[in-house]
This record gives sequence, C-alpha cells and structure tokens, in this order.
Amino acid sequence: MSVAKRVLVAGASGYLGRYALKEFKDRGYFVRALVRNPEKLKVAGPHGEPAVFDLADEVVAGDVTVPDTIARVCDGMDIVFSAIGLTKPEAHTSIEVDHLGNRRILESALGAKVSRFIYVSVFNQDKMAEVSTIKAHELFVDDLKASGISWAVIRPNGYFSDMGRFFDMARGGHIFMAGEGERKINPIHGADLAKVCVDAVEGDNREIPAGGPDTYTFREIMELAFEACGKSVWITSLPIWLAEGGLFVAGIFNRNLADLLSFAIEALKFDHVAPAYGTRHLKEFFAELAEGSR
Ligand SMILES: NC(=O)c1ccc[n+]([C@@H]2O[C@H](COP(=O)([O-])OP(=O)(O)OC[C@H]3O[C@@H](n4cnc5c(N)ncnc54)[C@H](OP(=O)(O)O)[C@@H]3O)[C@@H](O)[C@H]2O)c1
Repeated sequence: MSVAKRVLVAGASGYLGRYALKEFKDRGYFVRALVRNPEKLKVAGPHGEPAVFDLADEVVAGDVTVPDTIARVCDGMDIVFSAIGLTKPEAHTSIEVDHLGNRRILESALGAKVSRFIYVSVFNQDKMAEVSTIKAHELFVDDLKASGISWAVIRPNGYFSDMGRFFDMARGGHIFMAGEGERKINPIHGADLAKVCVDAVEGDNREIPAGGPDTYTFREIMELAFEACGKSVWITSLPIWLAEGGLFVAGIFNRNLADLLSFAIEALKFDHVAPAYGTRHLKEFFAELAEGSR
C-alpha cells in the first residue's frame, strides 16, 4: 500500500488556499493547514470558497511574522504550498509577510528536507516591478530559486474573488474606475487555479502563468457585475494621474493601504491575458454572488 504524500498548505484560510486544501485532499494527500485563526476554516469565505476545517488532517496555528510559530511547521511534510500574501491593509508590510514571512516557511522546509515548494506569486511581474507587493513576492521567488529546493511558481493574473470587488461596488450602484477600463484580463476561479497548483507538484522547476477561460476588458467585467445585480451601468472614469494623486495623499495617512491600492491602479494600465485554464465562468460567479446577496 502506498503512503499518502504529506503537504503543508500555508494560507489555507484565504480564497485560493481553501480551494488548494480541498484539491490536495481530493487527490489523496495528507494535509496540514497553516492558518492564523483555525476558527476561520469552519465557515465559508466571502466569495463562496468552502469551509475546509473538517477536510484538513491537521490544523496548525501560526503567523509568519512570529518566527517561533513557523520554525517547525514543515516537519514531516513532503511538499509545501504557500498562498500566503498580504492582500488587505494590516499592521505589517508586504516585505514582512510576502517576502520575509514566506522565507521563514522556506527555512523550515529546508530544515525538514521537504522535496518541493510551490509558491503563488503574480502574473505580469516585470511590468509592475516597482509596486511594493510585487517586489516583495519576487524577492521571495529569488530566495526560493536560490535555495536549492525543487520549486514551482504559479503566476495567476486575477482571481474571481478580486472581480468580486467590482460586484460589491456595482451592488452599491456606482463604480469609480482609474482610466477607461479598456485593458483585458482573463481572471480565474479559485477551484480551477487550485488544480493548476496541485498539478505543479510534478515536473521540473518552472513558472506557470495562469488565467481563466474568458477574456474581458475591465469595463466589460464591471458591466457584467451591474447586469448580475440588476442595476443600470454607472461607471465614472478618473484619469490615471488623478487616481495616482489620490494615492499619494492616501500614502501620507496609511502607507500600507496606499501600497495595496497602487497595485490595483497599476494593474489597470496593462493587459493581463495569461494562458487559459479551467471551466468556470465569471458570469456564473457573479450570478452566484447575486443569488447569495438576495
Ligand atoms: N487575488 C488575486 O487576484 C491575486 C492574483 C494574483 C496573485 N495573488 C496572490 O495569491 C496569493 C493568495 O491570494 P488570495 O486572494 O487567496 O489572498 P487571501 O484570500 O487574502 O489569502 C491570503 C492568505 O494569507 C494569510 N496570511 C496573511 N498574512 C499572514 C501572516 N502574517 N501569517 C500567516 N498567514 C497570513 C491569510 O490569513 P488570514 O485568513 O488570517 O488573513 C490568508 O490565509 C497572495 O499572495 C496574492 O498576492 C492574488
């Protein structure tokens, strides 16, 4: 009888992390979940991502900014998957979480002789290299590649959960947009991306850019969001320079918030069309959000 491979899913309470945990379990892995708050896994996430507490074989509480909680987290594991990243403003910076936090997990993985490390960074990293969160992700990617461990770096362009922010604004009746929204993206559902992540366990060291099956302009996505909530389209375009000016002012009061917003504004300047995976459609996702909000 073959023994199940053991995987640490770091960031298991997040949008992608929950789907990744479920996908590893569905494929027969023994799963240890690393989360800050285990209670969070007992309820579904805000974009329909599943409650996964009962699926995990072990749940370990740890915070990557607190070294003692991470030092032994990879003991006994064969594989590490990390979707840990700072996506909301907190007291910590992207460098402290995305770079140095993931590096603590890597150090634990090296100590535990883990055989492969799969990390989730971002697509179009070279075009947005000056954005703090991208810099932090890529500093970790550099460390991972230099560490000698077998690795894969997933490079997703945008998740359905992120498009859910447009839905929330559309539900409020109005969207402010930086620029005209003419750039294109093919966002991906967490469950579809989780398959790409688990497939990355096998094979060479490699980077895997990934998007979803349908490509839209950002404006079209906003229009879909209004349609799903049954509201008239009301989008106000702000010139990019004005949005960046607002960012400058926001930065005086809250540097971490401004850093995350700068990613959102920068992203609207380019096309983000990545190789297509998956079968789930944004229109259906918005319809589910609309159903859930009735
Ligand atoms: N969203 C997108 O469109 C997109 C696109 C490309 C790449 N990415 C990257 O993909 C990754 C996952 O994104 P996501 O949307 O799934 O993010 P998410 O839902 O915010 O999940 C992030 C995870 O990281 C955990 N985390 C944050 N700070 C931590 C800390 N100090 N110690 C331990 N865990 C910590 C969170 O825990 P809590 O639940 O406790 O907060 C959560 O489990 C991120 O690195 C993101 O930058 C996202």
